[in-house]
Amino acid sequence: MTQAIKPRIMIIGAGAMGRLWAAYLHTAAEVWFATRSVSGPKIDYPMRDATGSRHSISVPVWVRERGLPDCILVMTKAPDAEAALAPFDALLSTNTLLSTDIPVVLFQNGMGSQRTIVERYPGVPIIAASTTEGAYIAPDGLLVHAGKGITWVGGLNAIAQSQAEAAVNYLGLSGLTVAQDNDIEGRLWQKLAINAGINPFTALLDCPNGEILGNGYFEQRIGGVCEEVSTLMNARGRPIPAATLEAQVREIANRTATNSSSMRQDIRAGRQTEIDMMNGFVVRESEALGLSAPVNRELTTAVRALRHTKA
Ligand SMILES: NC(=O)c1ccc[n+]([C@@H]2O[C@H](COP(=O)([O-])OP(=O)(O)OC[C@H]3O[C@@H](n4cnc5c(N)ncnc54)[C@H](OP(=O)(O)O)[C@@H]3O)[C@@H](O)[C@H]2O)c1
Repeated sequence: MTQAIKPRIMIIGAGAMGRLWAAYLHTAAEVWFATRSVSGPKIDYPMRDATGSRHSISVPVWVRERGLPDCILVMTKAPDAEAALAPFDALLSTNTLLSTDIPVVLFQNGMGSQRTIVERYPGVPIIAASTTEGAYIAPDGLLVHAGKGITWVGGLNAIAQSQAEAAVNYLGLSGLTVAQDNDIEGRLWQKLAINAGINPFTALLDCPNGEILGNGYFEQRIGGVCEEVSTLMNARGRPIPAATLEAQVREIANRTATNSSSMRQDIRAGRQTEIDMMNGFVVRESEALGLSAPVNRELTTAVRALRHTKA
């Protein structure tokens, strides 16, 4: 009996998200990690899935001899995404005939890093994924799938429109819920607005999501954050009233009351945060349009300073 050829999927970044997708994909696809810190032939790790069952996962590390995969998943933090793709420049840029068929799927939260990558690789289908899957790596190295969600996928450049369905199919091999969204940028804006209204407050107040509600620091600033984001989104052709954004921030903070945001976790672990791709993005984009965003600026500066005081 002939064995079916498995699709080859390269995951750049073996952190929580990378390990989560590798764990679910590695039986149906040939999966490799590309890392900046592991030189061994493979990465082994224990995993607890969303039902509480434990698994042992083993994923080989990419080496040049393996050549190009069928699909690339970029699963670093947003500030690292561009540099993480750089080692594959030659493969992606010179081999244009092949690279037009290789979807590069960006999983980063926030905005800004996606556009930089779209501009850098005009001949490559660049796709964004926005996921509500939740995962973290416990101090003992256990990868925990904290909560099942849905992953929306859509093309960011013209060449990606024909590859978005392929990306959905590759990601769907995981058995996780994956769907195509023809307005993925709209979804990224929406998520940015919510993250900008929750994440910096949880980091600065060092509290779970629900505890920001009613806190004076949050209550004095959330109106301003939402006004500034709403003004920017209106200017970018994505009109949404500030009051609607604020209601959404409050509803999600309440619904996820016990969750510890990724920004709070990053600060606690002394890691770089994604503030520059969230509130910092709002500041840069607003100022580029001649608008000001003083409350988002204040929060960006405060979170950056927090990292230095905790480092
Ligand atoms: N975790 C979640 O539940 C979740 C949910 C939704 C969205 N997201 C988004 O998904 C993205 C990844 O999040 P995460 O939680 O997986 O972050 P993470 O645990 O910090 O993992 C990021 C990984 O990227 C690696 N990396 C950084 N630069 C690299 C490079 N140049 N080459 C190869 N690997 C590199 C890091 O390696 P080192 O170990 O060397 O630093 C790290 O292992 C973020 O944008 C996040 O907002 C996460």
